[in-house]
Amino acid sequence: MTDFTPAERAALYRAIALRRDVRAEFLPEAVDAGMLERVLAAAHQAPSVGLSQPWRFIVVREFAIRRAVHECFLRANAEATASYDAATAARYGALRLAGILDAPVNVCITCDDEPARGNGLGRRTMPETARYSTVCAIQNLWLAARVEGLGVGWSASSNPRSFAHYSASRIVSPSSRTSASDTLQRSRPSPISNATVGKHASRSQTSWTTSGTKAARSL
Ligand SMILES: Cc1cc2nc3c(=O)[nH]c(=O)nc-3n(C[C@H](O)[C@H](O)[C@H](O)COP(=O)(O)O)c2cc1C
Repeated sequence: MTDFTPAERAALYRAIALRRDVRAEFLPEAVDAGMLERVLAAAHQAPSVGLSQPWRFIVVREFAIRRAVHECFLRANAEATASYDAATAARYGALRLAGILDAPVNVCITCDDEPARGNGLGRRTMPETARYSTVCAIQNLWLAARVEGLGVGWSASSNPRSFAHYSASRIVSPSSRTSASDTLQRSRPSPISNATVGKHASRSQTSWTTSGTKAARSL
């Protein structure tokens, strides 16, 4: 017994098979706000340990912030290149690893390792499950983006410590957090009434994704 038609099942398996990490050939146009909201909503529907929802999605469009993060990436990339022998460094140098400036939207994803929501259920024995939950949310976003025709690339090639301070002061202040993200954080009932929303990056693990509409070629 299933609620899904054969076509719907096929579409889901197709999206899973065709999802790709994308970090080039982004179109310069802005990502449609409704589309972005839908993929963020998909992320927020992910399972999480104790329904703690420890993820935070921070939508970053401002070029100055993306340029600062790109500089963090360049530093980390230079360190990585220096650690390889010449042949490996040449191969590594040929990879497209960023897309931070090319994509019209970046999403900084943080994980609150000690979320108030969820009362610690499950995390007492396996604290790493907060991060597992955040990864589930990112995968939801990645798949939703695929069906929307948005390319998403996951960039871990920056030291989060190098931009955590910048993020906390420039991106994560309540006044600059996106309304979409705020709305979505509140949109799901929590079993804990005093659930906190949007703790900043200082004690969190941070990831970065870039997204934009992919140029005509399919992903
Ligand atoms: C946790 C995680 C971190 C990643 N970090 C990077 C990264 O820093 N740079 C990069 O180029 N790709 C990164 N990727 C993308 C992987 O390289 C990519 O998923 C993998 O090569 C498989 O390709 P596919 O996603 O298109 O199937 C990351 C993927 C995951 C799941």
